Amino acid sequence: MSQPTVYRTSSAEETIAAGRRIAAGLRGPQLVLLIGDLGAGKTTLTKGIVSGLGAAAPEDVLSPTFALMHELGDDPKVYHLDLYRLDRLPELETLGLDDLWDEEAIVLIEWGEKFADRLPTPRLEIRLRELGDESREIEIIEVNA
Ligand SMILES: Nc1ncnc2c1ncn2[C@@H]1O[C@H](COP(=O)(O)OP(=O)(O)O)[C@@H](O)[C@H]1O
Ligand SMILES: [Mg+2]
Repeated sequence: MSQPTVYRTSSAEETIAAGRRIAAGLRGPQLVLLIGDLGAGKTTLTKGIVSGLGAAAPEDVLSPTFALMHELGDDPKVYHLDLYRLDRLPELETLGLDDLWDEEAIVLIEWGEKFADRLPTPRLEIRLRELGDESREIEIIEVNA
């Protein structure tokens, strides 16, 4: 992928723009874990990735905390998950993630690191860190095993 491994942004808009650039290098099937504390910008970055993929407008990307999974777009298929409220492995299995790879989907998961050893590789892990009020560091790591 021809993109920097680390972005530094100083507003939510810049994080959305970074997400659009990340999207340009994505092709399904692809699992992406968004890792970082509450408020780090995981959902904001997802808005950029999803809009960059042409799957939905940024304002239509809402945190799927209660629904657990949102299906967005069709070509490519994009799924957005938030596992914050999911505590048990059997619940993860009911989501049917294994079937999504056959759809060549791009699967974006917030709080997926809770089940890191149950989610497949290769995958991208995007780590977001709050540096200040509006400044964020976004690090992209390719994990192969
Ligand atoms: N540089 C930035 N990048 C992303 N979000 C930012 C930035 N600066 C401020 N924010 C604000 O921080 C909050 C991030 O929230 P959100 O994306 O929902 O985080 P998470 O999904 O990680 O809990 C939003 O209110 C957003 O407007
Ligand atoms: Mg979120």
